[in-house]
Amino acid sequence: MPTDPVRIDVTTPSRRYTISLGDGLLDRLTRLLDESGAPRRRFVVSSPLVWRFHGQRFAAAADAEAIIVPDGERFKQLPTVSRVYDALIRANADRASTLITFGGGVIGDLAGFAAASYLRGIALVHVPTTLLAQVDSAIGGKVGVNHALGKNLIGAFHQPLAVAVDPELLSTLPRREFRAGLYEVVKYGVIASQPLFDRLTSSLPSIFKREPSLLADIIEESCRIKAEVVSADEREAGPRRALNFGHTIGHALEAITKYKRFRHGEAVAYGMLAAAALATARGALSTSDRDALRELITRMGPLPAVADLSATEAVEAAARDKKVVGGRLHFVLPTSIGATTTVTDVTEDELKQATEAIGLRA
Ligand SMILES: NC(=O)c1ccc[n+]([C@@H]2O[C@H](COP(=O)([O-])OP(=O)(O)OC[C@H]3O[C@@H](n4cnc5c(N)ncnc54)[C@H](O)[C@@H]3O)[C@@H](O)[C@H]2O)c1
Ligand SMILES: [Zn+2]
Repeated sequence: MPTDPVRIDVTTPSRRYTISLGDGLLDRLTRLLDESGAPRRRFVVSSPLVWRFHGQRFAAAADAEAIIVPDGERFKQLPTVSRVYDALIRANADRASTLITFGGGVIGDLAGFAAASYLRGIALVHVPTTLLAQVDSAIGGKVGVNHALGKNLIGAFHQPLAVAVDPELLSTLPRREFRAGLYEVVKYGVIASQPLFDRLTSSLPSIFKREPSLLADIIEESCRIKAEVVSADEREAGPRRALNFGHTIGHALEAITKYKRFRHGEAVAYGMLAAAALATARGALSTSDRDALRELITRMGPLPAVADLSATEAVEAAARDKKVVGGRLHFVLPTSIGATTTVTDVTEDELKQATEAIGLRA
């Protein structure tokens, strides 16, 4: 007998909705859609790979017209969104339609953007299928695509009517993708929950075996943290900034390698290590907390090499990042496992030393 799903509320000024979480939840999708008031004409946007693995189960669970588009970062762009519009228009989709995204963060972001803009916005439901999407990208309402000149430059805020998280879908996820998502879970531990961090540290082998109850636990805790933060701060003016922990240098590493070398989470892993090194150098974080983070990330497995990358180039890329507000870089510093602070006085020199500390060349 399936147990009742866990429910986590997200309350933003623009909408209140629920994240439902449970193994086998996909099979009860129709009920969940009906309960959330999703209009009856339903479309599902997915990728060939995800659809091949899980499409049959999806089709058995919910009556929806399938729109299959390629995923992967290089397809997260307007022409793919256009393919979704084409399919919706050809099918005469009207305002009383629901678009369900069924895939990783790329499908969620690009199809979510199609839902935000088609007929000035139709109902959206996310059914995320990667760990990263389940704990992060499906929650919070950010949707969008990349531009040739930069990542996530085109987008909108469009909150879903519901998010359905079924950890069973992760059974087919490649190990590297799984690990990439797990780094974001580490991030939640560092910014908000020492118990979560400790659970990761003590149960890492079982987590990698994707032991269901453990997996459900860490996903739930992560979703709670993200839900709480976006509820407090829908548009990233204040508390939501903590979610950027590890992302200033992480994004810089992704940018200087043209988004080809790292999975996003891997770059964030380096970014967290660099932020911890910077915090320790300032005396804001104890060396033992820094070492605990370093040890956990090391135990999680190898990261792509960085020794050939230039610290100077990384610092320049960080300075160009979106998190520079009014000429000031907002940098999230960990102060202990479970707490951060945002500072605006980080110097380029400190950033350079921090990137050298994680192995970039001077
Ligand atoms: N909107 C937000 O708030 C937010 C937050 C974080 C990240 N993001 C975005 O998310 C994207 C990354 O998402 P991602 O890491 O999920 O990558 P992704 O969507 O590219 O998925 C990674 C790979 O896993 C495959 N896949 C997906 N589900 C699978 C499954 N169940 N079994 C087997 N394979 C599966 C996909 O086909 C793809 O090849 C980035 O574009 C990033 O900008 C958005
Ligand atoms: Zn991230």
